[in-house]
Amino acid sequence: MAGRIPQTFLNELLARTDLVEVIDRRVPLKKAGRNYSACCPFHNEKTPSFSVNPDKQFYYCFGCGASGNALTFLMEYEGQDFVAAVEDLAGQQSMDIPRESGQDDAVYAENQQLFDLMEKVADSYQQNLKKRPLGIKAVEYLKQRGLSGEIAKLYGIGYVPGEWQNLQHLGKDQLKLQEQLVKTGMMIRKDNGHAYDRFRDRIMFPIRNRRGQVLGFGGRVIDQGEPKYLNSPETTLFHKGKELYGIFEMRRKLRDIEQIIIVEGYMDVVALAQYGIYNSVATLGTATTSEHLQTLFRICHTLVFCFDGDRAGRAAALRALNHALPQLKDTREVRLMFLPDGEDPDSMVRAIGMKAFNERVESASTLFDYLIEHLTSQVDMNTFEGPAKLVHLAKPFAQQITDPILLSRFTHKIAELSGLADRQLEESWREDSSSGTKAVANSTQTPSNSNNFEPDRKFQQNQSAFGSTSYEEPPPSHINQQTESRNKAPFRRAIALLLQHPEALPPADMSWLGSIEELGARILLNLIKIIEKNEEVTTAILVENWRGTAEHPHLIKLANQPLYAESENINAELSEIFKRLEKNYLLDQWDSLLEKVRNGSVTAAEKEEMKRLQAELSKQG
Ligand code: UTP
Ligand code: MN
Repeated sequence: MAGRIPQTFLNELLARTDLVEVIDRRVPLKKAGRNYSACCPFHNEKTPSFSVNPDKQFYYCFGCGASGNALTFLMEYEGQDFVAAVEDLAGQQSMDIPRESGQDDAVYAENQQLFDLMEKVADSYQQNLKKRPLGIKAVEYLKQRGLSGEIAKLYGIGYVPGEWQNLQHLGKDQLKLQEQLVKTGMMIRKDNGHAYDRFRDRIMFPIRNRRGQVLGFGGRVIDQGEPKYLNSPETTLFHKGKELYGIFEMRRKLRDIEQIIIVEGYMDVVALAQYGIYNSVATLGTATTSEHLQTLFRICHTLVFCFDGDRAGRAAALRALNHALPQLKDTREVRLMFLPDGEDPDSMVRAIGMKAFNERVESASTLFDYLIEHLTSQVDMNTFEGPAKLVHLAKPFAQQITDPILLSRFTHKIAELSGLADRQLEESWREDSSSGTKAVANSTQTPSNSNNFEPDRKFQQNQSAFGSTSYEEPPPSHINQQTESRNKAPFRRAIALLLQHPEALPPADMSWLGSIEELGARILLNLIKIIEKNEEVTTAILVENWRGTAEHPHLIKLANQPLYAESENINAELSEIFKRLEKNYLLDQWDSLLEKVRNGSVTAAEKEEMKRLQAELSKQG
C-alpha cells in the first residue's frame, strides 16, 4: 500500500469506532459501572482484571498491564500488523483509507478563521442584548417566554438588529470580512456583488458543534412574522444532518448523561433547561438522521424521542423508528414519548413542571413496544387473515434490525402473536418477497433513509469524553504523595490530565509552550494542538498520535494512571498548572536577560522585552 496513512484519518477512524464493540465481538464484556470488564485475553486468569473504558476508548489490564486502543487491540489479539488493523476497522466503518495529501492543513486553517469569526458574531449578538435601547425589545421577549439571563447566557442567545449590515465592525478588511461572512452564510451576496445580512431583527440562537465552535445560527422573529425561524444554510462548517442543537451545552452542564431527550425546536431545548432538564437536544429543522443517532449513542445508551401527539408526530415517530432500528443493540434503548395534541416540550414543561415532565420521560414506551402496538393496531387478529397480515407488516421492520439478539426477540414476539413457531416465521420472511411487503416498507421511509443498511460513510464523531473516567477510586492516603509528585512533575501531571480528560483543556493561549525546550512541553503542546484540531477527541485518539515513537509507552502509562481527582476539578487543576508553568517560563526568561544586564551584553530590544516581561509577570501576580 503506497503512501502513509494520514494521522487525521486515523483520528477520524478511532472517533467512529466503538472499542467496546470491537472487543465485545471477540471477548464478551460485562458492564461494570461505567466500564466493561472480562477475563484478560492476554494472560491466564480466573477473575476479570481486564477493563474497557468507553469514555477513554482505552483498555487496561490490572493483571498484566496490557493496554491500548482499538488498533492496539486488533494488533495484539488478532496478531495483525498495523495496516491490517486499520483496514479491519476502516472496513467496519465503510471508510476508504486515503493517501497522505497535504491539503488537510490548508482547509483546517481556513475553517479555523471562519470559526473565530463566528465566535465574534455570536459574541456581538449577545452584546446587543445589553445595549439600551437596542436590546430592550429582545430582552422583553425572552423574559416573556420565561427565560432567565442565566439560561440565555448558557445558550449564548443574542439579538441582531434590523439593519442590513450589522457585522462590519468585526473586521478591518471589509472585503475579506464580507467574503468570509458570505462563506459562513451570515451574509447573502446579490448578483450585483453587494452583500447584506441574512439575519435581521431576530433573536439569535448560536448552533455549536460538540467542541463548542459556532457553526451557524437559528434566528427567531420577535413575536409574529414569517418565516418564524430562519436557519443558517449548509456551509463548509455546518451540516444539518450531522449537528444537533444543544449538544455542547448539555455536555458542558452535565458530567454523567444517562439519557438524552430529542426534541424539535430551539425553544424546547432552552425551555427544558430553564426547568433544570439539561439533557435535551434538537434536530435542526430536519428529520433525525442515522448520523444524529450514532452521535448520540456514543454519548449515552438511552435516547428518548419527544413527539407531538398529532398525526405529524406519529409519522415522525415512524421515521425515527426506521432510523433507529438498524442501530439498536440489546444494550441500547430508544423510547418514544408523545405529547398531548397542541403541546410542545416548551409549553408542556411550563404547564406541568420538571417533575411531571420527567415522569412522562420515564414512562415513555420503548421503541419495540411502540412498534408492536403500531403493527397490531393495523390488523384484526380475530380474523383468519389477521396473523398473516401481521407477518407481512412486520417483515420490513425485521429487515432493519441488525442486532441478532434483538432480531430473535422481535421474531419471537411476532411469531407468538401470529401463532407460528419462530422458525416458521423466519422461513416465511425469507420466502415472502411480494410487492405488498415492499409497499409497507416504503410507506414508513423517507427518501433520505433509503440507505439504512449501509453504514454511514461520513465523518462520525466520537462519544462522550465527559463523565468520571478514572479506573480506580482514590485511596485517601495517596493524595499527599500525589500532590508532591504533582509539584515535581507538572508536565507529566498535565499530560496525564489532558490525556484522560481532553475536554478539560482550558481555552487560554498556550503557544508559549513552544519556546520551552523540554520533552514534556513538546508533548503537551502537541496534545493541545490535537485536541483543538479534532472536534471530538478521546484518550485513544491522543495516544494513537505517538504510535511508533519512544514516548508511546510512557503515554500509555499516563493514560492509565489513576488521577486522584474529581473530574469536575480537572479543568481548574490544569489551568493552575499552566499558569504556574507559564510563570516559571517567564521567570526563566527574566533571569537570563538579567544575566545579560549584569554582564553588559543586553540590547535595546532585550530591554524592551524585559519591560514586557515585567508587565506580564506583575499581571500574573
Ligand atoms: P416550531 O414551529 O414547533 O417552533 O418549530 P417552536 O420551536 O415551538 O418555536 P416557538 O416556541 O414558536 O418559538 C420547531 C423547529 O422547526 C424549525 C426550527 O428548528 C424550530 O425550532 N423551524 C420552524 C424552522 O426552521 N423554520 C420555521 O419557520 C419554523
Ligand atoms: Mn414552541
